[in-house]
Amino acid sequence: MLHGPNLNLLGRREPTIYGSLSLPALDRLIQAHARRRGVRVQCRQSNLEGQLIDWLQGAEREGFAGIVLNPGAFTHYSIALRDAVAAIRLPVIEVHLSNIHGREEFRRHSVIAAAARGQISGLGAQSYLLGLDALLMLEDRAGSDGSAVPRAPRTRHPRRKPVRKISR
Ligand code: DQA
Repeated sequence: MLHGPNLNLLGRREPTIYGSLSLPALDRLIQAHARRRGVRVQCRQSNLEGQLIDWLQGAEREGFAGIVLNPGAFTHYSIALRDAVAAIRLPVIEVHLSNIHGREEFRRHSVIAAAARGQISGLGAQSYLLGLDALLMLEDRAGSDGSAVPRAPRTRHPRRKPVRKISR
């Protein structure tokens, strides 16, 4: 789990938007969720673009299977972070506490999104938990080359019987 800039201030920072949960409390929720899922997660936060890039680049070497990333304000303009997400092989799920698509104009665009495997936005702490679940789902369903997620098998729905008219 990578938390970007200003997320160290969670709980005190604009609580009407980001909630009253502190970052350590959020990380505890994430760890509890990871235990329920039987996986190990490490949570890191940095205010520095270069540090986040170094963590992304090193994640595979460090033995991680995927990354849930809240890029904070870098979401909206950091081409360097976007390029790091595009450069690595591990899947990255972009998450946001607030719904960036319902906020100021400048927040509605993510330069990261196109390089990430998916984006979850607006569900508070749940965005992170769903981000982890999304990574697990990709792991389960990825093809042998780790690329495309195959479609779910088609379920066949039996044809509905025509409704019989009731004649009186
Ligand atoms: C954020 C949304 C960003 O626009 C903002 O700059 C943040 C937090 C979120 O989690 O809602 O720092 O990524």
